[in-house]
Amino acid sequence: MAGLGNVAFRELVAEFGGFGLLFTGMCSAKAVHQENRYISKVFKWRDEELPFLVCQLLGGDPDSMALAAERVQREGFFGVDLNFGCCAAAICKKGGGASILKDPALAKRIVAAVRERVSIPLFVKFRTGWERDPLRASKEAAQMAASFEEAGADALIFHPRMAPDRRLRPPKWEDIRLVKEAVSIPVFGNGNIFETSDCEKMVNISSCDGISIGRMAVARPWIFATITDGFSPESSSNSGIYRYTAMRMMRLLLEHHDERTAVKMFKKFVPYYSAGFKFGHSISKQLLKTDSPDEILRAVDAVFATPPETTARPNMHLSL
Ligand SMILES: Cc1cc2nc3c(=O)[nH]c(=O)nc-3n(C[C@H](O)[C@H](O)[C@H](O)COP(=O)(O)O)c2cc1C
Repeated sequence: MAGLGNVAFRELVAEFGGFGLLFTGMCSAKAVHQENRYISKVFKWRDEELPFLVCQLLGGDPDSMALAAERVQREGFFGVDLNFGCCAAAICKKGGGASILKDPALAKRIVAAVRERVSIPLFVKFRTGWERDPLRASKEAAQMAASFEEAGADALIFHPRMAPDRRLRPPKWEDIRLVKEAVSIPVFGNGNIFETSDCEKMVNISSCDGISIGRMAVARPWIFATITDGFSPESSSNSGIYRYTAMRMMRLLLEHHDERTAVKMFKKFVPYYSAGFKFGHSISKQLLKTDSPDEILRAVDAVFATPPETTARPNMHLSL
């Protein structure tokens, strides 16, 4: 996730464990072939995570996507993922992300060009396209999936929402089934997974082969451990998990970035950390009025000195 799925965040998730793969935030294909991993904020990794790390590429030009994918393979990533899902206006205007789905032939050419140049697992992350009629849109998504498989994709990550929809309506998990039925490669379902029971529901509705989690992994980086390892943050030894998570995140950001960048990055996590509490807005306010790592650590301590009242499901309005 852009701005959030950075190397420090992934280290925190890796400490909790329970996941299968981790993905970088989107990396511009045009930059990747010449990027310096020690300076870049996005194309940056720990060598230990390479065996389970997939690098996501953003771009609309088959040649630059293929060139970037070659670098990703050379660096030793587990796999490469093509971003055909982002519908932020700034990205789509430049011909990247979900805008590629407006031209299925181009989307297929990009997958084929990358396939030709790399042998590591090739993922495509996409969403229901731009068609407004829901039935036609579902059908088009399934056709697109089949064309990605034909072009050489090894697995698909599908977010069943139409492109201009953003997160205004719930994702249509039934459409994941249509995509799954259109291909023989694994399909990961994505969208609105908040807890273990949601995973069960998504699998039952869609028969998907795997699940991809976005915002909840940011809000609760232990979610994978809870789902697959039975990790329980409610047990007494884990009662301070929110305080621990915020503190650890700040410290990990400082290990990987300079102070100014680390503080700026931490603030992107604040709405997610506040989302699990009844008075999340007030928690956000306290954490955001800080200017240095020390102030942040002190504010985290103050906020969690008396454990604030939690909500059953995080208030994701805070984190949109
Ligand atoms: C702040 C933010 C940044 C995101 N950045 C990316 C990205 O870089 N690449 C991507 O494939 N999806 C990105 N997404 C979309 C998520 O990966 C995911 O598809 C979406 O949030 C729905 O899943 P969720 O309900 O589990 O969060 C982003 C979402 C958010 C909220």
